Amino acid sequence: MKDQIPTIQTEAIALIEAVADARAFEDARVAVLGKKGSLSQLATAMKDVAKEDKAEVGQLLNAARQAITAALEAKQAALQAEADKQALEGIDVTLPARPLALGGLHPLTLIRDEAIQILRRMGFALADGPEIEDEFHCFDALNTPADHPARNEKDTFYFDSGKLLRTHTSSVQIRTMETAVPPIRIIAPGSAYRRDEIDATHLSVFNQLEGLYVAEDVSLPDLKGTLEYFFHELFGPETAVRFRPHFFPFTEPSFEIDVKLTVKGQQPRWIEVAGCGMVDPAVFESIHGQRKDDAFAAEKVTGFAFGMGLDRLAMIRWGIRDIRLLIENDVRFLSQFA
Ligand code: PHE
Repeated sequence: MKDQIPTIQTEAIALIEAVADARAFEDARVAVLGKKGSLSQLATAMKDVAKEDKAEVGQLLNAARQAITAALEAKQAALQAEADKQALEGIDVTLPARPLALGGLHPLTLIRDEAIQILRRMGFALADGPEIEDEFHCFDALNTPADHPARNEKDTFYFDSGKLLRTHTSSVQIRTMETAVPPIRIIAPGSAYRRDEIDATHLSVFNQLEGLYVAEDVSLPDLKGTLEYFFHELFGPETAVRFRPHFFPFTEPSFEIDVKLTVKGQQPRWIEVAGCGMVDPAVFESIHGQRKDDAFAAEKVTGFAFGMGLDRLAMIRWGIRDIRLLIENDVRFLSQFA
């Protein structure tokens, strides 16, 4: 046994060194280290070695195993190096790499983030609410009675359960006032859904940004100042901003906001960009009915709210003529914003 070990070690190493490819390598490995391999057989034979020789033979065996393992590792590294060399043959590694196209943000994301930043500087915090809403938060609590046209089956996506896809982000006003206490200053960007015929200026899924400010003594000049400032920041100080009397069930008085500016490739003109108004006391009443406290008692607080279409703002900012471009994901269009 003692004399056998060096012989087997020499033979094994010679076998390994003669290996020329991955397959032969695997055969050699099995022939030496496999279950029936030469080294494994020696290890099995250890049990028949006389007790007083065990230590010496064991040491020899370990040394043999180490030498063989080292030979295997060296061979494997050599085979790998050879394979790498072959793979690179004929490739000019000094050629410059092909340019990697970098992604960019979608125009809607850009305009939304910009709007959020302006409003955050004014102290508005982000708020959120579900897109699958119930009629209470989307309509009833917003002083929009059951016979109001906005609730029409033809204009709204209803589920069998009675829930619906929110037709505006104004439902977040209600969600916020149910849980927070004044003073409240929030903005809520998000999707809104309407059964609109899809054309160059309408989508059935679009994007709004809602705002709500409720505190003691919030007044109409606060509303005007805030939104004028906002549109000047967004579109430039030369932008004219006009408040046109309008009606919304949940604000009184209510206005639509138009801006006058030059859209790329167009004559300057007035463009409607938002709806707004002073929160109708009836809205505070319905919040009061939901809450156990009187945080929103209509005689204590006042507020203003606004809602704008982010798609529309993006179209104005970049002179986009067809709203559908915003959802078609055509890289030729999108790469212009990257
Ligand atoms: N929710 C209104 C709409 O979708 C916009 C609006 C929001 C108007 C808040 C007034 C106050 O048209």
